[in-house]
Amino acid sequence: MARARSSSAAALLLLFFLAAEAVAAPSSITRRDFPTGFVFGVGSSAYQVEGAVAEDGRKPSIWDTFTHGGYSIDQATGDVTADQYHKYKEDVKLLHEMGVDAYRFSIAWPRLIPDGRGAVNPKGLEYYNNLIDELLSYGIQPHVTIYHFDFPQALQDEYNGLLSPRFIEDFTAYADVCFKNFGDRVKHWSTVNEPNIEPIGGYDQGILPPRRCSFPFGFACDGGNSTTEPYIVAHHLLLGHASAVSLYREKYQVAQGGQIGLTLLGWWYEPGTQAPEDIAAAARMNDFHIGWYMHPMVYGDYPPVMRKNVGSRLPSFTDEERERVKGSFDFVGFNHYVAIYVKADLSRLDEKLRDYTADAAVKYDMPFLKSSNQFPFGLTNDFMSSTPWALKKMLKHLQVKYKNPAVMIHENGAAGMPDPSGGNVQDDEFRSQFLQDYIEATLQSIRYQYGNMAELSGTKLSEAEAKCARNLIFISVFIVHRNGSNVQGYFVWSFLDVFEYLFGYRVRFGVYGVDFNSTARTRYQRHSAQWFSSFLRGGELRPVALPDRAYSQ
Ligand code: NOJ
Repeated sequence: MARARSSSAAALLLLFFLAAEAVAAPSSITRRDFPTGFVFGVGSSAYQVEGAVAEDGRKPSIWDTFTHGGYSIDQATGDVTADQYHKYKEDVKLLHEMGVDAYRFSIAWPRLIPDGRGAVNPKGLEYYNNLIDELLSYGIQPHVTIYHFDFPQALQDEYNGLLSPRFIEDFTAYADVCFKNFGDRVKHWSTVNEPNIEPIGGYDQGILPPRRCSFPFGFACDGGNSTTEPYIVAHHLLLGHASAVSLYREKYQVAQGGQIGLTLLGWWYEPGTQAPEDIAAAARMNDFHIGWYMHPMVYGDYPPVMRKNVGSRLPSFTDEERERVKGSFDFVGFNHYVAIYVKADLSRLDEKLRDYTADAAVKYDMPFLKSSNQFPFGLTNDFMSSTPWALKKMLKHLQVKYKNPAVMIHENGAAGMPDPSGGNVQDDEFRSQFLQDYIEATLQSIRYQYGNMAELSGTKLSEAEAKCARNLIFISVFIVHRNGSNVQGYFVWSFLDVFEYLFGYRVRFGVYGVDFNSTARTRYQRHSAQWFSSFLRGGELRPVALPDRAYSQ
């Protein structure tokens, strides 16, 4: 009895200690402050990094068609890009030297199944088997995205791609090939990347493949209907995702023991003013953006505000689909970069023809969208200022509104400009600082959960003691943390400089640079890679100075 009491007291002390620890100075953060098993990695995607687009049986995706049609900025293509297809061994070595736990990459559907359906390309299988094995030989976990924008052109030609429900069956069959061939070694699957933006770029604005839109929305498209197609495409992507998850759960998960989810773009919408209508506008936009997928996946239907504003243009679920979609994730990935300010524009609901933005009844309140310069949409190079509070708000929103799902921050990173004279840019301290800000914000968002976990793993408390402990945590959470998100991983975008879907080669996200002027596509280490490596090896999040400033070539 006495022993039980003293261990209970120890547990309470531990809780006090954790509460005190939560206010520790940010400079003292190391990776040991993150929960056990927390994954740190870097990422890429197939079309953006591989190159070799016409090699070993790969056939075109809609992105090859788009870039070869001259529609990307500077007519840039992913034909060669960082050439990872040929340089994967060198790249895995760099990942190992950096000390990451995991590499997030995607499989190119038209490399694995060149016609989108049917025959599997043995060379495609070989490449991804090699890449996975190479990663595992260094103890690096492969986190694999099944579909990251590079939709097979063959299926686009055959049935209009994502506009047809036939996509669901073909996508599921493709996912089956992935699970069957790679699932013995891949334990982290994301079905689709950013299905909450692909329908807008490709089917509302028409600025991205397959370039569909309709007047008065978008820009000079060949065909389309901006008022309906984005919702249809999103519906099919959601059903395709849910179908792949069901397949994985029924056929593979028990034997293979992996986790499956999807990856959403996680912009955080913030009100342009504190007027109640603008606060409501930002909340509405977060429902249109994140809730578009989270609401059906957690509650079985689209958010009520979407049902109300979009009306009959928003597809419905059959009972069977609803059941399949609900709960169709073990984790949700979020690609988080920016806070976007919006104001209410309720007059848009009176328009007869409405697209997604009109249905959301908002107007953007972002100075960078108004300026005109060399970047698409008038983006300036300071458009990505560091706003880590926005990540915390987004995580809090997920916690409160969607039952605190397991989250992987699948992308976070900062864009830099290439040297105009073609030199290699190695100093990117702005990026190191940006990443430090967001990693710190991630930890702050996790902290309450961490305390909770300590409580759970601690000594058994009496009911009264447990209540007291809960109150202590509650008070400290209230004062200090307030959060408690279930974040399980953080991936920097990107490992290397790559072809950027919106910006071609005009902006660079890599912690390793790539010399695109050399045929060898030489990689070089940036300050951020060196800093990340020191953090991954146990160093402080914000070191006073890095061990040395010599960059490798
Ligand atoms: C989101 C996309 O997933 C990725 O393909 C893109 O390069 C980055 N964000 C940066 O824009």
